[in-house]
Amino acid sequence: MLAAPSGTECTGLTRSDLDITDGSAVDAAIARLRPDVVFNGAAYNLVDRAEAEGARDALEINALGVACLSRACREADTPLVHFSTDFVFDGDKRTPYREDDVARPLSVYGASKLAGENIALAASPRNFAIRVCRLFGPSSADAAGSSKKPSGNFPLLMLRLGRERDSVRVVNDQVGTPSYTPDLAPAIWKLLERGDGGLFHLSNAEEVTFADYARAVFRLADVRCEVIGVSSKEYGAAAPRPMYSTLSNEKAHGAGVAPLRHWHDALAEFIAQLV
Ligand SMILES: NC(=O)c1ccc[n+]([C@@H]2O[C@H](COP(=O)([O-])OP(=O)(O)OC[C@H]3O[C@@H](n4cnc5c(N)ncnc54)[C@H](OP(=O)(O)O)[C@@H]3O)[C@@H](O)[C@H]2O)c1
Repeated sequence: MLAAPSGTECTGLTRSDLDITDGSAVDAAIARLRPDVVFNGAAYNLVDRAEAEGARDALEINALGVACLSRACREADTPLVHFSTDFVFDGDKRTPYREDDVARPLSVYGASKLAGENIALAASPRNFAIRVCRLFGPSSADAAGSSKKPSGNFPLLMLRLGRERDSVRVVNDQVGTPSYTPDLAPAIWKLLERGDGGLFHLSNAEEVTFADYARAVFRLADVRCEVIGVSSKEYGAAAPRPMYSTLSNEKAHGAGVAPLRHWHDALAEFIAQLV
């Protein structure tokens, strides 16, 4: 997910390189690589499956795995940057969620992510928990078609469906902000430069429903596919999601991060690189 500043040596580990729930393997990897900072993008993200099948796998990866990483990082005196989600909120607000708003997850996935961010933050004041929302961006797994799971990258999912079908049903009552990983990366480096960690929200600017987001994807990619807006109730996903989960970036701005651009400009750049 992170494009590092030039000159930074980066080692990316996939699940087959390192299972974050294996404490000894995590200790060994950190002892071997001796990183200056560890970014954890590993997660159990199957939101509906977690709801239907129970919390065990989600908690194992999203909480126990973070505990293994947090402990190893603390031993090595290395900050951990852990990624969390807008799904820690219940969506009852109608103004952007701040870091000091009470987190009340509606789903098993959201609860497991809240546990993980608390574990990371409790382990060291140098650790970060960064809540992001509706991630999209270049992904080696999506590009290679190597992932067996449904893509969590909404524009890529829509483009695949839009090229297969004449219409797609998309929820029109969940509001949030798409976030472009190449825009998040420099913002996160800026936060890291401060030295202190903490809980931060980061996303692109402005908000949109999923249905209008899908329409923007099709318009920008010139794909002819009708978006049929449906309510979350009609759609009937297993896991409840927040109706409103826009993240306020004010705290990050106060820490020196420049406001991220409008999500639509970021989406246009992403789509232009694909088509
Ligand atoms: N996608 C979104 O819209 C969104 C929104 C808000 C927050 N987030 C957060 O952002 C982060 C990245 O999300 P993403 O959508 O980019 O995730 P993703 O594409 O699903 O990637 C997660 C990765 O974690 C790996 N993984 C799972 N269990 C592991 C384990 N035990 N050890 C090591 N690796 C493991 C997965 O491997 P396998 O593929 O082999 O399972 C996968 O490569 C997550 O923390 C997520 O909660 C995402």
